[in-house]
Amino acid sequence: MSFKITDKVSWVGKIDWELRRFHGDEYSTHRGSSYNSYLIRDKKTVLIDTVWSPFGKEYVENLKKVIDLKEIDYIISQHSESDHSGALPFLMQEIPETPIYCTKSGANILKSQYHRDWNFIEYKTGDTLDIGSSQLVFVEAKMLHWPDSSFTYMTGDNILFSNDAFGQHYASELMYNDLVDQAELYQEAIKYYANILTPFSPLVTRKIEEVLALDLPVNMIAPSHGVIWRDNPGQIIHKYLKWADNYQENQITIIYDTMWNGTKIMAEAIAEGIRQADPEAAVKLYNLARSDKNDVLTEVFKSKAILVGSSTINRGILSAAASMLEMIAGLGFKNKKAAAFGSYGWSGESVAIIQERLKEAKLEVIEPGLKELWNPDEDGTARCMEFGKTFAAKL
Ligand code: FEO
Repeated sequence: MSFKITDKVSWVGKIDWELRRFHGDEYSTHRGSSYNSYLIRDKKTVLIDTVWSPFGKEYVENLKKVIDLKEIDYIISQHSESDHSGALPFLMQEIPETPIYCTKSGANILKSQYHRDWNFIEYKTGDTLDIGSSQLVFVEAKMLHWPDSSFTYMTGDNILFSNDAFGQHYASELMYNDLVDQAELYQEAIKYYANILTPFSPLVTRKIEEVLALDLPVNMIAPSHGVIWRDNPGQIIHKYLKWADNYQENQITIIYDTMWNGTKIMAEAIAEGIRQADPEAAVKLYNLARSDKNDVLTEVFKSKAILVGSSTINRGILSAAASMLEMIAGLGFKNKKAAAFGSYGWSGESVAIIQERLKEAKLEVIEPGLKELWNPDEDGTARCMEFGKTFAAKL
């Protein structure tokens, strides 16, 4: 499959409708994904990025139907992660001498991943490649989200090939942002940002400002996953600037795990208290053992505050809660308030442990945690409601 984006540029990637897990088991992809690869035909022929290795053979066979591989003058590897470089070993068997343009770090990573001595040509920000009537301009985008990440801007067609940035794990044959369901598109775009780019938000802001300062016309943003932004491509840039700026909505999210429903009863009573204190705030509850972790992290990203609950088990906390706290710490959310709660039977360490982990994750714990013995009775439920009210009042 291939399709023309402009007279010079064609999409030659792979739509992966079956994908349900990405980055090992770390990222859920309910709507599949795509690995976007682009072929530019000007006086010179250029291939930007490839696809994930399981599709490497298929990709090369498909590419052969579109072009004689020997006509490819340059390959650009904007990012060496295997979802974009995985087909290189298959491709380079056919055209081993073709130069691969990438950042210095990209060359090092590709060498370490594939152990092949390909013809690497390193680029830095501002370097250009003349390909005929258009020119390609390279922009390093370190840590967005790998050290080697980079963008390529094509003059004439005014396309920003942005690699992972502005992408979505979203399989669609419709291919363009204006053709797909907008709620689905933005759900996947914000989930992508929340789960992958949150730790690098200050760099996102700086890089976007740097690119905007160049005042380049951008007709399209062509990322390496999901649909191409052709209708008002600035919309996703402005969203990224908002998301990178300690983003939050008027939302409070309660996440918990529970053994025999004591902590669940607490969660629901706390939610009721918050609702009474702040009827405008969206209050959402997730049982962590039964919820998709990346969907929950997206909700945490949107929240101004979170409450984390767990029963006590073996002097610790339940594994789904522990795993979520680890992921929250790793993503480095900023400007979020928090508190802990949990039911217990005898020793009752869970609340203190959660509180400590929230602090370590740099969330601001604004209310001492609440413990309830076994299942909360009427008084216990009232204490939970009061806890929710006090918490909401402090936001
Ligand atoms: Fe889509 Fe960082 O690879």
